[in-house]
Amino acid sequence: MKNILVTGGAGFIGSNYINYILNERDDYNIINIDKLTYAGNLENLKISELKSNYHFIKGDIGNAELLRYIFEKFKIKYVINFAAESHVDRSILGSEIFFKTNVMGTNVLLETARFFEVEKFLQISTDEVYGSLGEKGKFSETTPISPNSPYSSSKASSDLMALSFFHTYEMPIVITRCSNNYGQFQFPEKLIPLMIINALNNQKLPVYGDGLNVRDWIYVVDHNRAINLVFEEGKIGEVYNIGASNEMKNIEIVNLILSQLKRDESLIQYIKDRPGHDRRYAIDSTKIQTELNWTPAFTFEEAIVKTIDWYLENKQWWQRIISGEYKKYYSEQYNLI
Ligand code: NAD
Ligand code: TYD
Repeated sequence: MKNILVTGGAGFIGSNYINYILNERDDYNIINIDKLTYAGNLENLKISELKSNYHFIKGDIGNAELLRYIFEKFKIKYVINFAAESHVDRSILGSEIFFKTNVMGTNVLLETARFFEVEKFLQISTDEVYGSLGEKGKFSETTPISPNSPYSSSKASSDLMALSFFHTYEMPIVITRCSNNYGQFQFPEKLIPLMIINALNNQKLPVYGDGLNVRDWIYVVDHNRAINLVFEEGKIGEVYNIGASNEMKNIEIVNLILSQLKRDESLIQYIKDRPGHDRRYAIDSTKIQTELNWTPAFTFEEAIVKTIDWYLENKQWWQRIISGEYKKYYSEQYNLI
């Protein structure tokens, strides 16, 4: 059995990872540590709760004492670090927690993993560490790091910190930098679920600026397939970009959601732009495709329909969310509407 500490496994990508992997592998023992912030939700993990090779611990990756206890008790030999504050708009409203969790928390986790001599430490990073592109070109693994938001700069710090632990201590670090994800269990602060839910509620769809910013979208299942491949076969000390070559303008996504849900375009409301809004992201994933033989299994056209259907069929999941802390965040973030 591989004893794997998965951090942030109650969030969007982490919970999809755990649900996916427990179906695929019975040689993994998954220990999930999650602080259960506003973004963590144990409902995402109902299926996993039934498995004997899954354990949940509520806790903070910045808590050294708790980590030492977990590493000892579960004989942790592998770490996949998903835990993070993950939303750019929240990092603009207040950056402190981003540096506390994403930088200092990752530091505590790395130091503990170093002490216990783990065999692999996978840091889940993001393409946002590369900054913003003009109309042409794509991010490759050698593109200079140039983050623009408090979120992306905190992620860049943890990414570079992890790499420095490889160079300095020969720790078995691997990094993935993925583009924008979508799929089931995504918290409705992010573009796609927010637009789906607002459209279903016949509320305005707030589009920042001119709506022409470009993101490169990947279905969360494809991201997690890539993560596991890198976890199993990725070369120590290497960075792997992950993306499905699916660039779209924000307004195209919004229009697609409206037409799929048979809602009118009059619901779109252009609002003041996000400060420092990155214009375009695009990922070159040649390295993972050629070296690890990964390709995305889903087209955007099929996976976006699956995603919209999931939100239609799981109203209870998101209704509980939007009636909680979310209300306060939403009114602060969208006070111009
Ligand atoms: P998310 O916000 O949905 O989930 C984050 C999880 O981390 C939550 O369950 C939260 O409770 C937990 N958490 C936060 N602080 C913690 C702490 N101090 N200790 C323990 N747990 C803590 O985020 P996500 O979208 O699932 O992203 C997961 C990872 O993937 C992040 O590192 C993010 O930067 C990265 N990433 C995300 C995307 C994307 O499109 N969502 C793309 C590329 C990379
Ligand atoms: P988001 O899902 O926050 O991801 P990120 O900023 O990390 O790429 O936003 C995706 C794009 O959608 C980004 O260009 C900002 C834009 N956006 C809106 O236009 N309106 C919104 O309400 C949100 C949340 C995002």
